[in-house]
Amino acid sequence: MTAPSTPVAIVGGTGGLGRGLAARWVAAGIDVVLGSRDPQRAAEAAAKVGGALDDAGVDADARGSLSAGGNAEVVGDAEVVVMAVPHGGLDEAFDAVGAQLAGRIVLSVVNPLTFDDTGPVPVEVPEGSAAARIAAALPEARVVAGLHSVSSRQLLRLGEPLDDDVPLVGDDEDALAAVAALVDRIDGCRAVVAGPLRLARPLEELTCVLLSVNRRHRVHTGLRLTRL
Ligand SMILES: NC(=O)c1ccc[n+]([C@@H]2O[C@H](COP(=O)([O-])OP(=O)(O)OC[C@H]3O[C@@H](n4cnc5c(N)ncnc54)[C@H](OP(=O)(O)O)[C@@H]3O)[C@@H](O)[C@H]2O)c1
Repeated sequence: MTAPSTPVAIVGGTGGLGRGLAARWVAAGIDVVLGSRDPQRAAEAAAKVGGALDDAGVDADARGSLSAGGNAEVVGDAEVVVMAVPHGGLDEAFDAVGAQLAGRIVLSVVNPLTFDDTGPVPVEVPEGSAAARIAAALPEARVVAGLHSVSSRQLLRLGEPLDDDVPLVGDDEDALAAVAALVDRIDGCRAVVAGPLRLARPLEELTCVLLSVNRRHRVHTGLRLTRL
């Protein structure tokens, strides 16, 4: 499937995950707009991503476009909007962009988790998962959840392909297919459509397992599904 005809908008795009996804997608020829609560911060993040692409020697002619702005501005007419804020920032993000998201594909990468002395701990979400919370708050959006276990650190290492399977869950098959096509454009990632949105909770919680493995073994693990 080809890239969406509108840029992918990333709400909370100044964080590691947003910048990492932007870098990989722009490198793959996909247009991206990075959003922030502060347009100046978004512009700085976009400049950082552009610099990383230059440093990695990504051919300028093969790149997608990269621009930046306030969260509400970048959502514009984007078909796909990535919700890349921390779980605690969702209400603020809904206030900023929620009214614009009817009919849009909203990709939740949100992991509701915290840390205590023993490591990562899943945070209980009354709706069942962060993705379900987004779907409840934005009933007309087409919510897909995925990329929970893809590390921002690895995404930002532009010289290295990733080595990750990316389970995707959602209730809208067209939205799943559109997100799968975007995930497949990230060098070294394979999208795996896993099932309905109700499976977002175990997917989000699985990140705690991987982060705990990372902590114990001092590594940055990814996820691979065998015999698929
Ligand atoms: N980091 C990873 O490796 C990784 C991997 C998979 C999934 N995730 C998930 O992806 C999301 C982003 O991760 P991240 O590490 O990039 O997070 P982050 O750096 O903590 O936050 C991303 C951006 O969200 C905005 N933000 C922060 N607090 C906010 C609030 N209260 N209200 C509204 N916006 C707020 C900030 O942008 P502005 O201040 O510029 O608005 C911030 O730069 C999280 O939900 C995380 O669970 C992360």
